[in-house]
Amino acid sequence: MISSKDSSELLHHLNRIGIALSCEKDLDRLLDLILREARIFARADAGSLFLKQGGGLIFIAAQNETLDSRGGEQKSDYYGSSVKLNNESIAGHVAVTGKVLNIPDAYHLPSEVPYRFLKKFDEENHYRTCSVLAVPMNIPNGEVIGVLQLINAMNEQKETVPFPEMFEELMLSLASQAAVAIRNAMLLEEIKQAHLDTIFRLSKAAEYRDEDTEAHLRRVTGYTIVVAKKLGLQTKEIDFLRYAAPMHDIGKLGVPDAVLLKPGKLTPEEFELMKKHTLIGAKILEGSDQKLFQIAKEIAISHHEKFNGTGYPYGLKGEAIPFYGRIVALPDVFDALTSKRVYKPAFSVAQAVDMIREESGKHFDPVVVKAFIDSLDEIVQVKEKEQT
Ligand code: C2E
Ligand code: SIN
Ligand code: SIN
Ligand code: FE
Repeated sequence: MISSKDSSELLHHLNRIGIALSCEKDLDRLLDLILREARIFARADAGSLFLKQGGGLIFIAAQNETLDSRGGEQKSDYYGSSVKLNNESIAGHVAVTGKVLNIPDAYHLPSEVPYRFLKKFDEENHYRTCSVLAVPMNIPNGEVIGVLQLINAMNEQKETVPFPEMFEELMLSLASQAAVAIRNAMLLEEIKQAHLDTIFRLSKAAEYRDEDTEAHLRRVTGYTIVVAKKLGLQTKEIDFLRYAAPMHDIGKLGVPDAVLLKPGKLTPEEFELMKKHTLIGAKILEGSDQKLFQIAKEIAISHHEKFNGTGYPYGLKGEAIPFYGRIVALPDVFDALTSKRVYKPAFSVAQAVDMIREESGKHFDPVVVKAFIDSLDEIVQVKEKEQT
């Protein structure tokens, strides 16, 4: 029997989990946290999470203490696989009925139940699933958004035992808190994606006259993120760069076609017009209370400054150039060098890298050049991934 002290401790524990879940905004980390906390709470050896999506249940996360401790490869090709939303599987049954299933032994199900346990995962990983506690994840309007499945409850002696009945109610409560946290993280993710999408579309408008603008923006952004990670920037700063870097050339909107699209070399007068894209960009982006647009403005105005003071529009030198501008300057030029332009052919990656190395301390901040060269493998991966 559970004493009242034990049960109040359990409730406290549950409450602490609820608070922790509501604080995690990153979906992947949140899913991990839910599984981990649920497993610790119910002393389960393993667990998995399914989310409803497109008429099915997607297998989205799994943890398994026993397989982890054995080391070696776990079969992970189940991630992203889908279970039908019907009574045939344990998770499907729970999602359809919205009822908890507490199964003492998955290999000895009563003959009258409609669901079956799929042994494939066990067989491929030499694991034995015995007790299963599968609970629906409900949001407050009653909708089931997924299923939390805990596997093999352990007693003090590390033997597999059935899940105590009292955990059914407690896990249901934990799963509902998890559902709300997941729903919020997904909404946030959706808003961020929509925001990023808007930024890319607006930035594309600035360059739509060029041929391969979107891929160019994705590459410059991708390279910038790689360099920023190598420089040890924080996640928040990297996110700002992810959204702000695509807007660096938005001022090209104000540059006449005759200049921007000129197939040959620009005259000095034409280049003066071209240089204005930094100031025009700053004008478009200035005056926002949003940190993101303040950073975007800073990048737009400073991405053509050079470390030795010979750049434009102000001829700023060294540390006087905003740091984010010094970062984006390099990916921007690297992509220009390795791409074909109306006014020039593409250089090879090796040629471009030589030119960049040569410009360390002249055009570019040496710290940024080092971070770039040190992450060349990842840079090339981004380049290959983001072709037109
Ligand atoms: P962009 O084409 O995106 O190039 C960005 C930066 O990459 C250039 O900034 C320059 O620093 C570097 N870059 C690009 N191609 C080369 C190259 O062949 N050699 C070297 N060493 N560096 C290169 P920059 O020069 O301030 O130019 C800014 C923008 O002005 C360019 O953006 C492009 O849109 C335009 N532009 C520059 N030169 C010409 C030109 O001769 N003809 C035309 N039609 N446009 C030009
Ligand atoms: C990107 O978002 O453009 C690329 C890469 C990343 O997330 O690190
Ligand atoms: C300026 O805005 O004139 C200076 C450069 C900057 O902070 O972006
Ligand atoms: Fe530019």
